[in-house]
Amino acid sequence: MTQDELKKAVGWSALKYVKPDSLVGVGTGSTATHFIDALATIKGQIKGTVSSSDASTQKLKSYGIPVLDCNEVDSLDVYVDGADEINHHMQMIKGGGAALTREKIVSALAKQFICIVDESKVVDVLGKFPLPIEVIPMARSYVARELFKLGGKPIYRQGVVTDNGNVILDVHDLIIAKPIELENRINNIPGVVTVGLFANKGADIALIGTSIGVKEMK
Ligand code: 5RP
Repeated sequence: MTQDELKKAVGWSALKYVKPDSLVGVGTGSTATHFIDALATIKGQIKGTVSSSDASTQKLKSYGIPVLDCNEVDSLDVYVDGADEINHHMQMIKGGGAALTREKIVSALAKQFICIVDESKVVDVLGKFPLPIEVIPMARSYVARELFKLGGKPIYRQGVVTDNGNVILDVHDLIIAKPIELENRINNIPGVVTVGLFANKGADIALIGTSIGVKEMK
């Protein structure tokens, strides 16, 4: 199976976690897009969605799926999204698609985070995938110097402006042995909007697409 076929299989398998009359948080990326295709088949059965990016909002609306403003909801029943890496403690690196800030906000509202990934994303130690960090543009160089001090090599993602008008630094060469500690530390650097480490609040369930079927990890 190709990687995209594995992504499609997990995207569709997440449907069983969407209960009738629920409010659904929707992630961003190619795996989440497969989930949106699946969600469209039961759109009449859900209350609505909250989206984590303009791209996902557009896709949801193209199917006629209701998209609510985040400020209109107190909580979400479930949030379904992909990841760039996930470890066996259900902690993740996210933000490959630059949507990390809205993804963190929407996941914070959700009672349950279902992570949908193909098997290549499951790792023992996070950090091979460069860690995305959303930064206020005027703080870019300052934040980059602070990240150097933490042992990483930040690279400015040229030409990318987030949905919130900020920029992304991708931090290479970090071996993330203590994800919660690092998430807290980077969050404390002035100018950082969001670090793409989802460690304090990880996934509740991971659906992993493999060549022999979709596996579940809790
Ligand atoms: C976007 C994300 C995505 O979930 C992550 O990049 C995985 O993307 P894909 O499903 O295309 O592999 O965090 O900001």
